[in-house]
Amino acid sequence: MRQAGRSLPEYRAIRGEGSIVEAIRTPDLATEITLQPVRRYGVDAAILYSDIVTPIEAIGFGVDVAPGVGPVVEQPFRSAADLDRIRPLDPEADTGFVLETVRNLVAELGDTPLIGFAGAPFTVASYLIEGQPSRTYTRTKSLMRGDPDLWHRLLGRLADLALASLRSQVAAGASAIQLFDSWAGALSPVDYERFVLPHSRAVLEGVADLGVPRIHFGVGTGEILSLMRDAGADVMGVDWRIPIDVARDRLGDGVALQGNLDPALLFAPWEVVEAETLDVLARNGGRPGHVFNLGHGVLPETDPSVLERVVALVHEVDPATGQRP
Ligand code: CP3
Repeated sequence: MRQAGRSLPEYRAIRGEGSIVEAIRTPDLATEITLQPVRRYGVDAAILYSDIVTPIEAIGFGVDVAPGVGPVVEQPFRSAADLDRIRPLDPEADTGFVLETVRNLVAELGDTPLIGFAGAPFTVASYLIEGQPSRTYTRTKSLMRGDPDLWHRLLGRLADLALASLRSQVAAGASAIQLFDSWAGALSPVDYERFVLPHSRAVLEGVADLGVPRIHFGVGTGEILSLMRDAGADVMGVDWRIPIDVARDRLGDGVALQGNLDPALLFAPWEVVEAETLDVLARNGGRPGHVFNLGHGVLPETDPSVLERVVALVHEVDPATGQRP
């Protein structure tokens, strides 16, 4: 998730103004920012400080991440001619700064695993086509249904980028990968299966030989969960819109789950946060594999001391039962 966000004062202090892209391109800074939430909260894993648009930005597509907005594109993807703007990624030459950050982190983190990540083809395509965050994905869906041939060529190239990036992060020492298809829940199951799944599968199957756990996540994906899992995930991330036991019923026991406390509930009184956290854990109690997490990123105004208490509470719980001893 976008974990640290702006919730940590120490993040705001060293992050500075301006685009996050500059911070990502500065390995010492990106290393320190990745470590901050691990130090503060004592979480069990670190997630690399980067962004889903890092590879496409690095090959010069003209993407920036506007503070408070998200990814914005100067010249959005409009036609077949724009395919020429998406060349293959050379991870060392184009994103050496990411790999340097990964190597620094692996040295600093000791036993704490580092999760590398990439944006899934659909979610990255939605930014390239819309030019900015969207609620309706009208241009994206219009290209998908209006020119399926161009759509598949675009997603094929984005799958290649994600795959090259993930493989390089694992080679540099990342111990797990997460593929973020944050906005795939905007699609019907039929469209997802036909226009998106083959490309996400190319990414996830493409890293299978590396032997690291593969996490797959999107928001509002209750109706496409088993399709997303079929793309080749060892762990399925779920947001709070679907109770984790319902997700488990839909997926069976052959996969681990990640989630799914509603990040907005962290603003409720502690008794509520405590009860909801225990409820999430109990709902997967006795079933295999649960990575406790929020259902989406930390909201910037979140009180860090509440997150500290949630992490401590989760650590008290017996993983076998999902209950406090
Ligand atoms: O937070 C972390 O340190 C983890 C690293 C991380 C970032 N982005 C840094 C970031 C990760 C894992 C991401 C993934 C990402 N980026 C996703 C997938 C996860 C999800 O939240 O669904 C998506 C959709 C993006 C695109 C993106 N980047 C958005 C929509 C925004 C929000 C814009 C805003 O300011 O509210 C960003 C910016 C961004 N990327 C921030 C961080 C920490 C926000 C704060 C900042 O700019 O410093």
